[in-house]
This record gives sequence, C-alpha cells and structure tokens, in this order.
Amino acid sequence: MQTKFTVADFKKSKVENRKITVLTAYDYPTAKIMDEAGIDCILVGDSLGMVVLGYEDTTKVTMDDMIHHIKAVARGTKTAFVIGDMPFLSYHTGRYESVRNAGRLIAEGGCGAVKLEGGEAIVDDVRSIISAGIPVMGHLGYTPQSINLFGGHKAQGKSIETARKIMHDALCLQEAGVFSIVLECIPHALAKLITSRLDIPTIGIGAGPDCDGQVLVYHDVFGMYKGQPHKHAKKYFDMAEKIDEVVRNYANEIRDGIFPTTQNSFIMDDSIVKQLEREFAAGGIK
Ligand code: KIV
Repeated sequence: MQTKFTVADFKKSKVENRKITVLTAYDYPTAKIMDEAGIDCILVGDSLGMVVLGYEDTTKVTMDDMIHHIKAVARGTKTAFVIGDMPFLSYHTGRYESVRNAGRLIAEGGCGAVKLEGGEAIVDDVRSIISAGIPVMGHLGYTPQSINLFGGHKAQGKSIETARKIMHDALCLQEAGVFSIVLECIPHALAKLITSRLDIPTIGIGAGPDCDGQVLVYHDVFGMYKGQPHKHAKKYFDMAEKIDEVVRNYANEIRDGIFPTTQNSFIMDDSIVKQLEREFAAGGIK
C-alpha cells in the first residue's frame, strides 16, 4: 500500500536522487484520479485564477477562492501531499496577516503546506509561518503575482545580475527553512547550478531537466485549451478537442432522437400506465 508523501519525503527524494512529481489540481475528481495514479504532490496553484476562474492573471485570486479549491482537492487526496498557494497580498501586509492566512489554508483548506512567491524580501514572513508549524515552499524566477512588475510572462534570470539575485534568493529561502523551491521559467543552466548548490529540492517548471522534481499545470498537460501549449509545457492529451467532439455528438444525438432511448429511462407497471391512460382520456386528471 502506498504511504502518504510528506515534507520529509521531499528531502529524502533529493538525497536518493528520486525525481519528485507534482501536478496542479483544483477540484475533487481530478485530485482523486491523480492521487490514485500515484502523483507525489498536488499543488493547488493560484493559477486557478486563470485556468479555472477565467481571470487574466493571478492577482484577482482571493483567500476564499484558494480555501474553496484546496478543500475540494484535500477531500480527493489520500497519499499525495497537498500544497496551497498563498494568493496575492495575503503575505505582503505584515507577518501577523501572513501567519493568519497561511494558518487558514491549513486549518480551513486542509493542505499540508503553503507556497509563497519571492526571495529575500519575504524571508521574515516565511520564518514566522514556519514558526507557527506550517511548512513553506518557495517560488522564484518568473513569479506570476509580479506580472505587472515583469511586464508580462517572461523568462527570468538570463543576465548575470538577475541570475545572481535568484541564486541569492534561493539561499535566503533555504536559510529561512523552506522545504523546497519552485523554479519557474529560468535558464536550465541556472536551475542546474541552484539545484546542485541547495540541500533542499528544487521543483522546476520551464527550468530544464536538472531540477529535483517537476510541476506542470493541469490545463497544459491535458490540453484544456485549443492551440499550442506554452513553451515550457507538454500537452499529453487534447482534452479540448475531445470535449468539442463529445459535445457535438451529444447535441446531434439529441436532435436526431438517438439519445436517450428507453434503455436510459425507468419503467412502471403496465397496469398503472393503462389506468393513467383511462383516467386521462376521461378527463379525470386535473
Ligand atoms: O499557481 C501555480 O499553478 C503555480 C505553478 C505554476 C508552479 O505556482
């Protein structure tokens, strides 16, 4: 029987050179299927703002949105470790608010850890959250909550200064006690260097093959949109095309009288049908 993946298994996987597998999920049935398929960890990312709620970026996502979706994922999960994203402005207004909000994701949502975007600038918040007994995952490189600062979805850390900064931030986060760091959209050579320098595992997304684990967004993996996937992602299935095909078949079958048949409905005793017909014909049913 598979045992629950824990924070300790993140470290152990790095030591044993075993890659950590992470996918995002936002609802009960998807989490249940992923869990039963043996994924190590499910991230309830604030990417849900875009891929589930239809916002342009992640800055509109609220604590209540996160808790709502974390709860659903936690209910569907037995062995995968569940991490919940702390949304925009939930950890930028003081340590008290940061701990309170992280605590809500754990206590109300039911996840096992929280993820925060940022490096040196947020280490005080990270320390306070960890002091409250809450494991923290870091997130560096392209950090989507700062999209307005970056001026769009762009790879980070290509220059010597920005690469040094990301490396420095990774060391600060490790020192503050995070159990793992997501590296998003940075050059693979930089991700390799950071990964070899850190004792804690790195989880890459658009950061090359040398990270200690990988994470992708559900909607990229399953092709939940038409067209090409992002450069950093891989579409393993074309769900949008399949859904399109099924919707058309379903609608056509209804229009053509193919579905439903009597096989899809319920029966009643023939004598009752006859009785109803007689009463109806006699005008007895008002
Ligand atoms: O919100 C999210 O899904 C994430 C992943 C892209 C790492 O932060």
